[in-house]
Amino acid sequence: MISLTVNGKEVQGRADKKLLDFLREELRLTATKNGCGTGACGACTVLADGKPVRSCVTPLSKVEGKQVLTVEGLSDREKEVYVFAFAESGAVQCGFCIPGMVLSAKALLDTNNNPNEEETRQAIRGNICRCTGYVKIIKAIEIAAKLLRENTPVPKQNFSGLLGEHIHRVDAAEKTLGTGIFTDDLEFPQMLHASVIRSAYPRARLVKIDPSAALSHTDCKAVLTAKDVPGNIKIGHLEFISDYDVMIAEGGITRFIGDAIALVVCGNKENLEEVKALVKIDYEVLEPMTSPAMALAEGAPLIHNKERNILSREHLVRGNADEVLAKSKHVVNRRYVLPFTEHAFMEPECAIAMPDGAPSEDGVDGLVLYSAGQGIYDEQRECSRMLGIPPQKLRVIGQLVGGAFGGKEDMSVQPHACLAAWILKKPVKVLFSRQESINVHPKRHAMEIEMTTGCDENGKLTAMKAVIVSDTGAYASLGGPVLQRACTHAAGPYNYQVINIEGKAVYTNNIPAGAFRGFGVPQSCFATESNLNLLAEMVGISPWEIRFRNAIRPGQVLPNGQLAGGDVELEACLLALKDIYENANAQGKHAGIACAFKNSGIGVGLPDVSRCIFSVENGKVHIRTSAACIGQGLATLLTQIACQTLGLPPENFFVEAPDTSRAPNSGTTTASRQSLFTGEATRQAALKLKDALDAAGGKLEKLAGQEFYGEYSGVTDPMGSDKQNPVSHVAYGYAATLAIIDGEGKVEKLVAAYDMGSVVNPKAAEGQIEGGLLMGMGYALTEDFPMEGGYPKAKYGTLGLIKAPAAPPMEIILTKPRDPLPVAFGIKGVGELATIPVAPAIAGAYYAKDGNHRTKLPMENTFYKRG
Ligand code: FES
Ligand code: FES
Repeated sequence: MISLTVNGKEVQGRADKKLLDFLREELRLTATKNGCGTGACGACTVLADGKPVRSCVTPLSKVEGKQVLTVEGLSDREKEVYVFAFAESGAVQCGFCIPGMVLSAKALLDTNNNPNEEETRQAIRGNICRCTGYVKIIKAIEIAAKLLRENTPVPKQNFSGLLGEHIHRVDAAEKTLGTGIFTDDLEFPQMLHASVIRSAYPRARLVKIDPSAALSHTDCKAVLTAKDVPGNIKIGHLEFISDYDVMIAEGGITRFIGDAIALVVCGNKENLEEVKALVKIDYEVLEPMTSPAMALAEGAPLIHNKERNILSREHLVRGNADEVLAKSKHVVNRRYVLPFTEHAFMEPECAIAMPDGAPSEDGVDGLVLYSAGQGIYDEQRECSRMLGIPPQKLRVIGQLVGGAFGGKEDMSVQPHACLAAWILKKPVKVLFSRQESINVHPKRHAMEIEMTTGCDENGKLTAMKAVIVSDTGAYASLGGPVLQRACTHAAGPYNYQVINIEGKAVYTNNIPAGAFRGFGVPQSCFATESNLNLLAEMVGISPWEIRFRNAIRPGQVLPNGQLAGGDVELEACLLALKDIYENANAQGKHAGIACAFKNSGIGVGLPDVSRCIFSVENGKVHIRTSAACIGQGLATLLTQIACQTLGLPPENFFVEAPDTSRAPNSGTTTASRQSLFTGEATRQAALKLKDALDAAGGKLEKLAGQEFYGEYSGVTDPMGSDKQNPVSHVAYGYAATLAIIDGEGKVEKLVAAYDMGSVVNPKAAEGQIEGGLLMGMGYALTEDFPMEGGYPKAKYGTLGLIKAPAAPPMEIILTKPRDPLPVAFGIKGVGELATIPVAPAIAGAYYAKDGNHRTKLPMENTFYKRG
């Protein structure tokens, strides 16, 4: 045993124990987070004798006799300052990285109380934040430095909560101080730990599983296999496809290296890997199909029972594209190759399931699931179906979500936690290691796109054709809708109507691909916008000019036939960038520009409903929705909508965490829908409360115990509708983004003008966009997810995530809608849009610099990556 001091208290621990595990598990200091466990992300940063260390790779022996400090050990003054600074600057999103950031900041400020921006960037270079783009974190450190240096009190805050006001996020304090609860922070008495044995091969027949040696291990509580699944072994985010095996049965064929073969349950999590190694598994190895070409080949084996391994097809036709292109003055044709990429959200997946203590009247026991997905009702539906129990027997309680970006829409840990808890009647935690997370959850789709675009002599677009093939990997996930969005957005936000777009999503034995911020649109937008630059050159006008001439305006018709409403402000976005674009070029820099649009809501005729309940309890208005906040600040947004509607300040409201026993179904956090959909449902509930409050003379206490229900359903037309102007989606957000690179090819600045409708909280909106811009820059230049033979070659540290020193300055311009949508105060949302136009904007800047039209991401021969 060795001794050290933690937060001023002397403690003892085992020399070989990792400091992070010691802090979290033995001292229960859970503010320190485990993002990667391999020293690559900085979420576990603590201070040892004042210096930042990564506690996940530091054995206790290394800190013997040292003073270790976690966020819990900050002084009250420091806590107050950092909470204020991070809230004031809008630096907190999902919050998973923030305690580590705060400690890196403290280490800096303790030795340099007036750092410049570069010194701050260097101080947090080991701390990855996937949400913010670092801009507001750097600002937060500047604010904290000033308060500490000048020893001034933290300013008092007094918010009205009205739309347009930067109120501090309601979860800023708990995320800054690490007191907010992520699933892995929970502990329950007698809790067991479970971990999945994954397929050793991307494609193999599972001949036999022999768990006997594992079962004889003293700490092994169970080895569960497909035979133990009581209900439907197939699950899937889209119920009508449901092709995902919770576990592969003996005799079955695996489809990717993440397939579950067996679930090992132990009392002590440290024994899991040892026990897993004792399970003997015999495979007959089969050749995997690791590209769409292989899977589409004549006679290729079927991964699922789908003709030619095709999950879905799209064919969008308006007018006769061949004819119009043949008559067009200028035509370009290029083929683009887009890679798989990894969400790299900071919090690895974790779920805990346990028997529900409530007495059962019908003989069916219930379960409670603590989880952090993107929709508690999705988790309830899929897991209850797998257990063969009525959905209401599974209560799902959402915890803080440490980032998701679409990567937590599908089930991952939840079914296995439920299965083990169901069978063993004990609490069971399933926690992914970072590598398991990387190997299992769906990625951004790799796509190949051939695109032909035509215009007239003035640069007015005439028609386009595209063929899009996506690698959807081993399971459907959301591969069908992702392909559909890639196709529906492939013609861009422009005013022309002749299109012919064919798409195919193909099953392979690669890791599945699914939802990822932008949902297929970043891929097709890269092709669309890159072709536009070549057309501009042929016409002899600038890339800005060709976009301005074609940009969709109110009253015009989008390529999909939808009439653009008065809310559309793409023209204003472009005008906002005009001078900056021209000045950059005039100064000898290289500027690239791209536009994008993105739907708000699921659309295309599918049911899309959000719901909200207000209840008056203990003198406060509780806002109850099932909508998952995955970092975007939903609780704050709903609070501001309530404040605006009712004229009450924020302290009157309490936004409950998602809980199927308390909240109505508000739908999945997907398709940039929550701000608009749950925003409007919240407004509707608030309006009912307002009526009641008016009748009660404004006395909230008179309404104690009452509930008020609000709902919003987005009505749209199905794909292929024969209406002249079908409503494909209830709204679109629009964006124009400018990338400026210097002589070396380094991104010097990103400037983004966004039409996201009405802005609820300007700093929150900017923060979303800054994070999206940096993610888009990573997609353009540094991020990749190589797979060879169905095996991923990436680790967290090799994904190419951009760190603070390389993040460029960003300028955000938010347009004001002249004619806002009549729902949700005109909010359209920006979650996905922010990422989409960045890669083509950067490609345009490089083209301006060296004339090399890059057609592949991440781009080669740049400042960031050689060819
Ligand atoms: Fe330690 Fe990522 S958890 S560096
Ligand atoms: Fe930094 Fe989410 S706020 S990772």
